[in-house]
Amino acid sequence: MSPRESANNVDPMFLSRWSPRAFLEKPIPEADLMSLFEAARWAPSCFNDQPWLFLYSKSEKDKALFLSLLMDSNQVWAKAAPVLAFALTRKHFSHNQAPNRLAAFDTGAAWMSLALAAHKIGLATHAMGGFHQDAAYEKLQVPRDKFEIQCAIAIGYRADADTLPTALRDRETPSQRKATQTIAAAGSFPKDLLY
Ligand SMILES: Cc1cc2nc3c(=O)[nH]c(=O)nc-3n(C[C@H](O)[C@H](O)[C@H](O)COP(=O)(O)O)c2cc1C
Repeated sequence: MSPRESANNVDPMFLSRWSPRAFLEKPIPEADLMSLFEAARWAPSCFNDQPWLFLYSKSEKDKALFLSLLMDSNQVWAKAAPVLAFALTRKHFSHNQAPNRLAAFDTGAAWMSLALAAHKIGLATHAMGGFHQDAAYEKLQVPRDKFEIQCAIAIGYRADADTLPTALRDRETPSQRKATQTIAAAGSFPKDLLY
């Protein structure tokens, strides 16, 4: 795959962050891990409600449980990552318990802050929508009426692609993106973008 190139001027960190599958089994210092959640903490949110909650694995027992909740296709590689986490969203505003239709949007912002903070200190992250929904709510004891589990996240130090099963090695490379003009349009809805 060709290297990532920006079409417009942008901080290089936006291109150099990507989601690997090969991780070293090297522990993350607690302070570094906490610095990722600190970054997430300062994300913007509607009404400053901060509707995100990150559950993370601290012990081997947690790690084994979190890993067991992932789809097999993710377990294969995520097992090497020293920390697994789940990003949750609180569905209702704290101040009036009304449904918060922007909660997932805000949690996405917090996740991106976490991912970029990780990248800045040499850690990699990989989000995973592929987890067993029912089992995750049950085993993590998440109240379904109040919270939604958005995705799982693997966090750790990148390893060589050779450490992956053969089938995954070719995919271990940064992906490309759609052209800027297909994701940003001046004025009202662009009719030629109905795809
Ligand atoms: C919410 C979300 C869910 C994802 N789910 C999975 C997944 O289950 N398994 C996987 O291997 N990658 C998953 N990914 C990773 C994406 O495929 C990846 O972010 C995308 O291809 C862009 O590549 P990059 O992050 O390396 O830039 C997910 C990413 C996000 C943000």
